Amino acid sequence: MTSTQERVARYFCGREVARKFAFSRIWGDELDAVFSDVAPYYDLASNVASLGSCKTWRQKFVNGVEIRPGDEVLDLCAGTNAVGIGPLQREPAARVRALDRSRAMQAVGGQIARARGFEIESHIGDAHRLPFPDASFDIVTLQWASRHLRVVEAFSEVRRVLKPGGSFYHCDMLRPENRIVQALYSAYLKACVSATALIFRSGPAAWSCRDTFVLAVEMFYTSRELSELLAHLGFTEISNEDAVGGVMAVHSAHKPGAHKPGAHNPGAHKPGAHKPGARQR
Ligand SMILES: C[S@@+](CC[C@H](N)C(=O)[O-])C[C@H]1O[C@@H](n2cnc3c(N)ncnc32)[C@H](O)[C@@H]1O
Repeated sequence: MTSTQERVARYFCGREVARKFAFSRIWGDELDAVFSDVAPYYDLASNVASLGSCKTWRQKFVNGVEIRPGDEVLDLCAGTNAVGIGPLQREPAARVRALDRSRAMQAVGGQIARARGFEIESHIGDAHRLPFPDASFDIVTLQWASRHLRVVEAFSEVRRVLKPGGSFYHCDMLRPENRIVQALYSAYLKACVSATALIFRSGPAAWSCRDTFVLAVEMFYTSRELSELLAHLGFTEISNEDAVGGVMAVHSAHKPGAHKPGAHNPGAHKPGAHKPGARQR
């Protein structure tokens, strides 16, 4: 390891320890209680809270997934399968598996997929210990959940289960670099989370976690840091597309290895491509 790599490793290790310290309570059973509570109205509430923009972002995310017939896809922290259905609509000959720790979210997701004529194999499990052998998937998608995860562990698992040359697509709410944008964004999130909890009459679990949900974004990574973390964990051809001063970003990355003809090459031609090791902290 070079001294730069050691510095980067120490930085992310410190940040992950701080996140774990702040959220270990909610990352246990509390998060399950929250998602059991919100599962029946999750999709509608996300739309209301984001003033409709979450649909646009989800569509943008799904459209960016390069998919071929026969591809094995894992939608991680799949929730109500909103992301998992997208690749199947574009490529019905792909096979999509969903993993989430919330039975309630996946129960709703299974109903939605079946109602639209799609079959998504559901796995209830933990994103930090995936129940799949190495090199199982061509594509892994992960949207709007990483801020609730131990990211280094979860992304390492993503890399393990991807086939060489496979692609990782990631989207989440992130911490903006600019402090003024950060402060405005936090105020907006606090108001939105409270208003949504009131409108949908959230139960005690979701109601008591309102501040923690905002803190999870405040303590999360910036788009640039997420690119660096992906590079640090051995992904290549990393690209990112940021929105509204970095409050949200889509990242794509590659597991190094053999490329089949016409294989996924997510970072090759997109703006914001990140060269691993190019930036120093
Ligand atoms: C905000 S929802 C996002 C759902 C979906 N990806 C979407 O884009 O709508 C977060 C999901 O992550 C799941 N989740 C949180 N921590 C998890 C973990 N450690 N392992 C698996 N799923 C987890 C929750 O149960 C929840 O369904």
